[in-house]
Amino acid sequence: MSNPRAAAWSVLEQAEQATLADLFAADGDRVARLSARLDLGEGSILFDWSKTHLSDALLDKFEALAEASDFAEMRRRLFAGEVVNPTEGRAAEHTALRGVGREESVEEAMGLLARMRTLVEAIHDGALGPVKHLIHIGIGGSALGPALAVDALTRDLAKVDVHVVSNIDGVALEAAFARCDPATTLVAVASKTFTTIETMTNAASVLQWLAANGVDDPTGRVIALTAAPEKAVDWGVDETRVLPFAESVGGRYSLWSSIGFPIALAIGWDEFVAFLDGAAAMDLHFRDTDGRANLPLRAAFADQFYTRLKGCQTRAVFCYDERLRLLPDYLQQLEMESNGKRVTADGQPVDFPTAPITWGGVGTDAQHAVFQLLHQGTNLVPVDFIACVAPGDDLDPAHHRILLTNCFAQGAALMAGGNMAADGKDPARAFPGNRPSATILCDDLDPATLGALIAFHEHRTFANAVLMGINPFDQFGVELGKKMAKDIEAGAADFDPGTKALLAAAGL
Ligand code: F6P
Repeated sequence: MSNPRAAAWSVLEQAEQATLADLFAADGDRVARLSARLDLGEGSILFDWSKTHLSDALLDKFEALAEASDFAEMRRRLFAGEVVNPTEGRAAEHTALRGVGREESVEEAMGLLARMRTLVEAIHDGALGPVKHLIHIGIGGSALGPALAVDALTRDLAKVDVHVVSNIDGVALEAAFARCDPATTLVAVASKTFTTIETMTNAASVLQWLAANGVDDPTGRVIALTAAPEKAVDWGVDETRVLPFAESVGGRYSLWSSIGFPIALAIGWDEFVAFLDGAAAMDLHFRDTDGRANLPLRAAFADQFYTRLKGCQTRAVFCYDERLRLLPDYLQQLEMESNGKRVTADGQPVDFPTAPITWGGVGTDAQHAVFQLLHQGTNLVPVDFIACVAPGDDLDPAHHRILLTNCFAQGAALMAGGNMAADGKDPARAFPGNRPSATILCDDLDPATLGALIAFHEHRTFANAVLMGINPFDQFGVELGKKMAKDIEAGAADFDPGTKALLAAAGL
């Protein structure tokens, strides 16, 4: 076989697959062998893949696949700021914002972050008058990261009350208006392109709301976060309140840039730096660690095993931490917009499944809603559990103890299976077991840990793409629907009869 990647896959396809019970029985050291810890200085994150079907023998073969996929070279290109997005001829330099990457790009990123720091600190010092609220307008990558980080990190210490509004449905914006005092509200307009229709329409409506509520200079309350600063200036934002970021930072990787302005405003600059530093710790680990010891790469090995070798169409993420309730939404864009592709990086149709559908929720809520299917349904769903050793609450420690014991019990139950009937024979009460899960256990959920956790998933997504030979950095799949919506707005009539009937039924 001339294609080394295909050859490595064919070896994997023929590999023996043991049950989880057999894997544990065969190796008394399995937990230590399949777990690893990333040290973050003040805390750490434990990654445990012992309840997945990865074995030493499989990992050998996956390492061969990584080599056949030129993983080391692709990773070098990523950190060197070379083109890794061939369809758009672009680099992907989000790590430069964390201080890791091509020297010139890091320098440029640091300059832009310094500019953001000046504005954040000036606002905290009262330069724009009293500021109690920030309405952050953006969508997709310009909203999901800020929403996640603000929600996760500001339960008890928000310096400014942030409302992230993404949907064009005016109901979303009205909900933010209802919670904000116009006189003490700033507006962040976050858009890499500064053309996205939802964002620009929402931004215009916020200005109208400010004006209607007695704010003299509504545009003077706007901070623009964009890779197209000239468009923001044309739109009316004063250049001093435009915070640019580099074109080579993709939308879904942009929360580290000025798109993270609401995070910095809410948690303060030092904490924002800790967030970046946590991500940098993961960058350095990912850049400098080879083979199975590389955490994002090992996660990608497990992902590929379940998607390609076991035919799993979804993967689930359950955070046993209320503060991470928005992480599944964030990961959906990161993973599905990056790797939901049907051609390879050089344009050949793929003959294998690419990204599975990412879904999930929070524990223990999800146990009482969707876990039935995980335990007894006909779909095999690899699960990631994410939890923290330290509680996020000050209530009776029973809360956190029950939260964690439930989390660990679910992983154990998925693996063990059994029968709940007294005689052990009732099929309706039977659990097949041998169902996989990985657990990510953080010491505590501080900014550094969240940064590392997000960077872990970014690199895992990249590693998956390399193993599949696809380009994770473009997203042409979002374009056709946008174009059709524009065509409808412009009055085009050449649509299918079903769509025409819907338009007529809605009076459009
Ligand atoms: O429609 C998809 C998308 O292009 C995402 O990739 C991006 O994060 C989002 O829209 C928002 O784009 P922008 O930041 O340019 O407004």
